Amino acid sequence: MTPAIHIKETYTNQNSFHIYFSHTGTHKYKNIPKELQTIIQLKAERHEFAGKDTDILHIEQATDKGIGHIVILGLGDEAVHEVKNIRNQISKAVHLARNVKALEIVVHIGTYGKDVQTIVEGVLIGDYSFDTFKGKESQKKHPHVNNVYIETSETAEVKKAVEKGINTASALLLTRDMVNTPASHLHPETLVNYAKEIEKKAQGKVDVTVLNEQECKKLGMGAFLGVAQGSERKPAFIVLHYKGSGTKKFAFVGKSITFDSGGLSLKPSEGMMDMKIDMAGGAAVLGVFDYLASQKPLVSTFSDVYGVLPACENMPSGKAMKPGDVVTAMNGKTVEVLNTDAEGRLALADALVYAETVLKADYIIDMATLTGACMVALGNDLAGLFSNDDAFEKKYAVSAGLAGDDYWRMPLHSAYLAHMKSTIADLKNISTVRYGGAITAAIFLKEFIKKAKWMHIDIAGPAHSDKNGASGWGVLSVIYFLEPITKV
Ligand code: BES
Ligand code: ZN
Ligand code: ZN
Repeated sequence: MTPAIHIKETYTNQNSFHIYFSHTGTHKYKNIPKELQTIIQLKAERHEFAGKDTDILHIEQATDKGIGHIVILGLGDEAVHEVKNIRNQISKAVHLARNVKALEIVVHIGTYGKDVQTIVEGVLIGDYSFDTFKGKESQKKHPHVNNVYIETSETAEVKKAVEKGINTASALLLTRDMVNTPASHLHPETLVNYAKEIEKKAQGKVDVTVLNEQECKKLGMGAFLGVAQGSERKPAFIVLHYKGSGTKKFAFVGKSITFDSGGLSLKPSEGMMDMKIDMAGGAAVLGVFDYLASQKPLVSTFSDVYGVLPACENMPSGKAMKPGDVVTAMNGKTVEVLNTDAEGRLALADALVYAETVLKADYIIDMATLTGACMVALGNDLAGLFSNDDAFEKKYAVSAGLAGDDYWRMPLHSAYLAHMKSTIADLKNISTVRYGGAITAAIFLKEFIKKAKWMHIDIAGPAHSDKNGASGWGVLSVIYFLEPITKV
């Protein structure tokens, strides 16, 4: 159950879990009740709280009915208004509320009246946990929050911002659910079902087309089908379409390998453990379309927004692709597959060609858990972004900043293409050189783009962490890229 969000001018219940904001510098006590200020002062003197954007001060208060909680969230310098800090800090506070079994939260928004959408997002994200496979006992330990009161007046704008916040957070959390779901319970067909549910919910605003194996074969998607051929499960090439109101066409392509065993180039056990997450790119695409489905016609620069998921499993078997095999992609390029574990670039190759030549996309973002090398380079927090168009990247940087989808731009260093020249085909799917694996993967993909403005985002690092599970990286940034945050 997700918490119900209420808007109330004032709400007083001492036993609730009260959230206030504070800053570094001179204005740090603004909007905080006088009696709390002394406590904060004391904590500040003891260097326990300074209002920094990672600071959280938790005070438990004995009241006549039990224990109330007061949480002061640091937001850093008040002059630097960081939306992602507000979302993050609120979300940490709600997580804390669940740990102390608080069922009711009051958010004293003070000067943050414009940020209702972000606050709602933070609340719902903070309350999230993946409970599908958990027993009742373990669920009882951390009950979900029932009610959240946001202290402000209920204008039409505020109502709209609440609704937006609920829609963006639900999209993100849907993506997290999918990525957290094990491969025993999520197959290419499951992604098809999600897409169809979104189509139903959209009531005419989103249409979904699914190409089966034969249809993909007819289109010449030999690279994608090569990856799929070892599995007992059938592949599905899923295309979603949302009609916008602008002029340019935009396609969002997501790697959708529902399990990556490596194929005959089998992964070692350690490396295979997390490979249910190899569809995180595709799950982000579905998250964004779940949001689009909930919207009134979107005012955007794009006439058409497409989602593309080349969905399959990468499995070894008697039918599987063998190292040394040659496949032909939809644009006619032949690829010598020397490592069946470098499968993402094969599936994406056909998806990119499809997006540019069939859907006629002017702008393409692909998101993929593509390389371990990108994790080596940038760690768990950052995605690696490659683009052939600076303006496109600059625009995306703004929405990624608001979302907290952190990334580092990497070079499309074309000289490395020489390391993927095959003696018997146009390309090899791996480089002869061991280093720079995230870059060579991106350079490989670039061979399947003609003139579209394109961004490849390698999310192998931030898509998932052992501690927190799936992150939903990319969902919020792409949503804000398509439609700015609603400010009250
Ligand atoms: N899905 C993996 C990449 C990956 C690794 C994602 C770890 C998330 C966490 C991808 O298909 C893969 O196996 N890549 C190989 C490429 C190599 C064979 C050139 C890799 O990174 O080792
Ligand atoms: Zn792989
Ligand atoms: Zn993979």
